[in-house]
Amino acid sequence: MIYLDAAATSFQKPDDVWQAVQTAARDMSSPGRGGYPAAIRAADTVFQCRQALSDFFHADNPERIVFTLNATHALNIAIKSLVHPGSRVVISGYEHSAVTRPLAAIGNVRTIVAESPLFQPQAALDAFAQAITPGTDAVICTHVSNVFGTVLPIRQIAELCRERKVPLIIDASQSAGILPLDVSELQPAFVAMPGHKGLYGPQGTGVLICSETIPSQTLIEGGTGSLPLQQSMPDFLPDRLEAGTHNVPGIAGLLEGVRFVSRLGIDQIRESERALALAAANGLRRLPGIEVFATPDLSAQCGVVSFRLPGKDVEELGEVLSQQDIAVRTGYHCAPLAHRTAGTLKTGTIRVSFSAFNTPEDVVALLTAVGQSLL
Ligand code: ALA
Repeated sequence: MIYLDAAATSFQKPDDVWQAVQTAARDMSSPGRGGYPAAIRAADTVFQCRQALSDFFHADNPERIVFTLNATHALNIAIKSLVHPGSRVVISGYEHSAVTRPLAAIGNVRTIVAESPLFQPQAALDAFAQAITPGTDAVICTHVSNVFGTVLPIRQIAELCRERKVPLIIDASQSAGILPLDVSELQPAFVAMPGHKGLYGPQGTGVLICSETIPSQTLIEGGTGSLPLQQSMPDFLPDRLEAGTHNVPGIAGLLEGVRFVSRLGIDQIRESERALALAAANGLRRLPGIEVFATPDLSAQCGVVSFRLPGKDVEELGEVLSQQDIAVRTGYHCAPLAHRTAGTLKTGTIRVSFSAFNTPEDVVALLTAVGQSLL
């Protein structure tokens, strides 16, 4: 299979990841629940992963790293901690349903969309500067759009939030492991991310990086191994947000994923993905009738490219590619707001997205298959 759907999950993982998953499943029990070797091995592995993530994102304290099921789970904790009925919230025009649905579920939230065109960081910053007014309770911004790969100027948006004293939630679903993200510099209230995309962990792993403020929202309550006689959840991290047994095999795999990314280096990973995305965008543009969402030099864009063919159903083309064993994602990518912003709400798009495991041959196969489907 030629896998071009890394924005959904990085399906190809380093061998070390799978080996760690297997070892953990076989040799580790529940962390923090016993003093016997299998429990200690689990606790050590979970702590090592927390430490590795803390170092990677400059969180200055591993206790601020909370393990979740996925980025959606992490975003729900963050959003429901800061946003309540009656709140005023500013979001980018590229937010995923993992942001817009929790906001809708809370109800009676005044959501201001800081809309900006694709691949224009200055316009995005201007939109946020205008939308964040006194009385704004929170800002939520994706670092990179999962549909179009457009990069939002998160450093400047974070600076704006700090100046105006508004808590910021960053959705790093498409940037963690690809773009630099230094929480000691950005000082966001929360950063949410999956473990299973650019960090190369298994599915079922997510991370919430918290600021020093202890989140009011627990989302789920239960045993933590700490304060067993107390009926309320502990008021310290990470226990407050980690009820129940951890996904130890997943976290063990994530630890190896983070080590893999650290070894390769995010700059190298990003540049190789960008080169493939640029080759794909240029090649698609040369095919008759294809509309490609990318600037000529892929400025302000990561290794994600959306395209469509006016008059042809995106699902149909996705199916043609699938029959040739090329995996892409088609449709709305759980982000209707991004399509509204980009003007693709009527059709959706076909999306190709790259990881460290893709090669130039994968791009050639894509271009050949799309070209043949036009004959
Ligand atoms: N949000 C993920 C995607 O973009 C699953 O495909």
